[in-house]
Amino acid sequence: MGWWAAMGRGRGEADMHQPDRVSLREVAPRDGLQNEPPVPTADKIRLIDALSRTGLSRIEAVSFVSPKAVPQMADAAEVWAAVEKHSGIRYSALAPNTRGVQRALDAGFTAVELVVSASETHNRANIGRSVAESLAELPDICAQARERLASVEVIIATSFGCPFEGDIAPAKVARIVEAAEAAGAGRVAFGDTTGMGTPRRVTDLLDAIDTDLPMLMHFHDTRGTALANLLTALDRGVVEFDASVGGIGGCPFAPGASGNVATEEVVHMLHDMGVETGVDLEALIRTAELAQEIVGRPLESGVLRAGPRSTKHASRNSTQDESDAGNLKPG
Ligand code: COA
Ligand code: ZN
Repeated sequence: MGWWAAMGRGRGEADMHQPDRVSLREVAPRDGLQNEPPVPTADKIRLIDALSRTGLSRIEAVSFVSPKAVPQMADAAEVWAAVEKHSGIRYSALAPNTRGVQRALDAGFTAVELVVSASETHNRANIGRSVAESLAELPDICAQARERLASVEVIIATSFGCPFEGDIAPAKVARIVEAAEAAGAGRVAFGDTTGMGTPRRVTDLLDAIDTDLPMLMHFHDTRGTALANLLTALDRGVVEFDASVGGIGGCPFAPGASGNVATEEVVHMLHDMGVETGVDLEALIRTAELAQEIVGRPLESGVLRAGPRSTKHASRNSTQDESDAGNLKPG
């Protein structure tokens, strides 16, 4: 693992391994907005365009799902047609089935994500069919994508537990990874749909997975474990993560689902550790403010609320006058 740099630690502390760089995929336009009351098309475009100017290199822009199932994504093609496409950014679209993948390819996407759940019950609730039925479509989907020079990622929802079934055996997730690899998928992603993951579960899952495919982790912060999970995965060599600006997100078909790990919280922590993301934190926080304005409610992201750790506040005993205090901005 030549790209790992050992981080110096005091005696007795375990060495943690960290990469020089991590690749983040922003999912607020899809995972975030699918779980909010529908917002105008123009606001979706505004959010994606703002994200494209933060230095992020991957953005999940929309999903091509049934408008009856998820009315929030009914305007996916319209949104995608109108957003600014930056050449350095890899934009992707999520799909639940062959029909959705075809819509994504027809709209011009060259990166599509097929979602399937590790849990039978959640797959039925989310996609309306069995896991085996979902996987049966995969070889054809990969072949069709290959013809159009597009890549397919398989997102395995409920990888760390299911709100209906409880714990999910890592071996079950591993079998879906095998099927994805055999079908010709280019990447696998592990979704913690309702934030049931903990560092121990991340370790257990990675112990069970044996694949040559790049792996990405998608954590929700439902129970406050998302950053700990991310660090655990990082220590195990995972360098690709989903995150959502402002921490918005959730699956409408998974009770208890709440926000994704906030992109600004991830960037804030990683940069302080010396792990590069390519993202401009200030621009990202401004985009989180935009997301907050668009969804019209206060968002829970700590870095959005408190500013970066370098933010200075006037002390109570300060002799500075009010106008000085007014100058204390994050920076
Ligand atoms: N995009 C748009 N419409 C689609 C579609 C797609 N990818 N796939 C199917 N449809 C349409 C069908 O044509 C049908 O339309 P009709 O009622 O006008 O005839 C309707 O959706 C229902 O399709 P059907 O095949 O009977 O399946 P279903 O009702 O069980 O729905 C899904 C299956 C997969 C389409 C639906 O459950 C879905 O879109 N789920 C996505 C859930 C999601 O986005 N979750 C969050 C992200 S993980
Ligand atoms: Zn999610």
